[in-house]
Amino acid sequence: MTVVVRRFDYPRDVETLISFMPELYETNFPGFVATPEFLSRQRQRLREAARDPAQLVLVADGSRGPVGFIWLVLELDSRGRRRGEVAALYVHPAWRGKGVARKLMAEGEEYFRSWGCHTVHLMVTASNERAVGLYRSLGYTVTRYQMEKPLR
Ligand SMILES: CC(C)(COP(=O)(O)OP(=O)(O)OC[C@H]1O[C@@H](n2cnc3c(N)ncnc32)[C@H](O)[C@@H]1OP(=O)(O)O)[C@@H](O)C(=O)NCCC(=O)NCCS
Repeated sequence: MTVVVRRFDYPRDVETLISFMPELYETNFPGFVATPEFLSRQRQRLREAARDPAQLVLVADGSRGPVGFIWLVLELDSRGRRRGEVAALYVHPAWRGKGVARKLMAEGEEYFRSWGCHTVHLMVTASNERAVGLYRSLGYTVTRYQMEKPLR
């Protein structure tokens, strides 16, 4: 089973990507519930991303349409240098463990390199072992912790 990576096409792909959002957010924010309002905001954000030259969404196409996607954002760091952010990464459960995310990450890094970015960063929830394992295996290291404690 091979996938082809291509640019996101809003009218053609938006509903498939929206169908991926509940699991993407619920995995990374335990207890999160993807309401219709939340999904409608995501639809709007995808529409904006498709028109924004600083953002690129790539989809991995299986035989019957998108099976995963990566959302890339070009930004400037505090010293005005270009850097890349992986804002979202998702692969459908039926396609996991086959290197699809690796392929999307490789394309993303290549895109950032082509824009002269000196680093690429991302946020991942510590309990998301699969994603943390993937990023570590690609050479990502921890640069900051976000900490919290429940208040009674
Ligand atoms: C995380 C996710 C994108 C990985 O997609 P994938 O296509 O299965 O990943 P790949 O097959 O390309 O890479 C698998 C790599 O992940 C790592 N990995 C997979 N399962 C793992 C686990 N249980 N523990 C640790 N590392 C694991 C390994 O490094 C593995 O590489 P290997 O197969 O060569 O050993 C996918 O599981 C997903 O969409 N999860 C839900 C959404 C999500 O959490 N996205 C990330 C948000 S930050």
